[in-house]
Amino acid sequence: MLLQELLDIGEEIYFVEESYTSQRNIGSTLHYLEGVQAFLENQKVRLLRVRNGEQTLGLLLFNPGEEDVPVDFWSVFTGALAGASQKVKFEAFASSILSLNPPEREVEVSSELWRDAVNEYYSLMLVNRNLCSECSTRPESYGSIFSEQRVNRVSEIFHDLGNKGFSLEGRVLEVCCGNGMSTLALYRLGLDPIAMELNKCTVCQGLEHGVLNPKKALVMDAMQLSRYFEPGSFDVVVGFMLGLVYEFNKDLWIGIVNEAAKVVTEGGLLLFTVKSRPEIEILAEALRRAGVEGEIVDNTDADGVFDQWYFVGKKVLCK
Ligand SMILES: C[S@@+](CC[C@H](N)C(=O)[O-])C[C@H]1O[C@@H](n2cnc3c(N)ncnc32)[C@H](O)[C@@H]1O
Repeated sequence: MLLQELLDIGEEIYFVEESYTSQRNIGSTLHYLEGVQAFLENQKVRLLRVRNGEQTLGLLLFNPGEEDVPVDFWSVFTGALAGASQKVKFEAFASSILSLNPPEREVEVSSELWRDAVNEYYSLMLVNRNLCSECSTRPESYGSIFSEQRVNRVSEIFHDLGNKGFSLEGRVLEVCCGNGMSTLALYRLGLDPIAMELNKCTVCQGLEHGVLNPKKALVMDAMQLSRYFEPGSFDVVVGFMLGLVYEFNKDLWIGIVNEAAKVVTEGGLLLFTVKSRPEIEILAEALRRAGVEGEIVDNTDADGVFDQWYFVGKKVLCK
């Protein structure tokens, strides 16, 4: 695991937050750190500090094995992915704890590598079924889930975009990535997108088959993108086979593309594919209202199923 490598530790590690998304509010982290701070008034513990320059990205507290938990492990606390006010609280606790109990080691890590390591931890917890109390999903074979024909279909869209003068490069986010079938086409372009999806079982499936990159796959609601990523965080935001988009559920999909438009940078590329023309018209109208200039492209084929229509455009206006 990247975290163990970065910190050069062999023991198990556990974050106190139960999911990647709860790293935004860090309620449990702050609660535990308050307890740790009080405890350190009288006792000393083994502590590691992860830092990026002067900023404390994380603290690791050693827990020696005991009768009820006979394994040594490190508890990991981080505020690096938290919202601004929570981050300030984390750093205040961290500096107080470090002054009460100097760390036995400090490890310098870039913020990006730390984020990858945290993310990988939750991906591994997910795929090892540690985040689900019961799992009744049977593993399926690679060939029964992933289709080379579909990956090629997405790759052909990228080829068409190249001919139209659009380039997919830089910081890429894929929304609603499912099990990573469409992500495979992005990987083949040499991109390393953050791929996010609401359904944890499909993410688990993509991780299980080694398709999704555990450092970059997120279980998250795309309606909440702007809560987790700053405006302009990405050069490209894509989503494949969104929908089905009907009148009765269109607010969900409009919400998702609006969120995508918030986190893409000005001049950044947005690309969404769907099955039918009415669906792409709904999304295109929403995107234009969100300051995206672009076009609807007819990509229909004889199969008539995947990625039949797409909208591609650039964000021209920050709203
Ligand atoms: C038709 S699948 C497409 C999956 C993949 N992009 C592909 O092309 O193979 C649509 C995906 O959108 C996901 N989805 C629906 N609502 C979502 C939300 N609010 N946030 C993130 N993903 C969502 C679904 O779980 C589903 O995996």
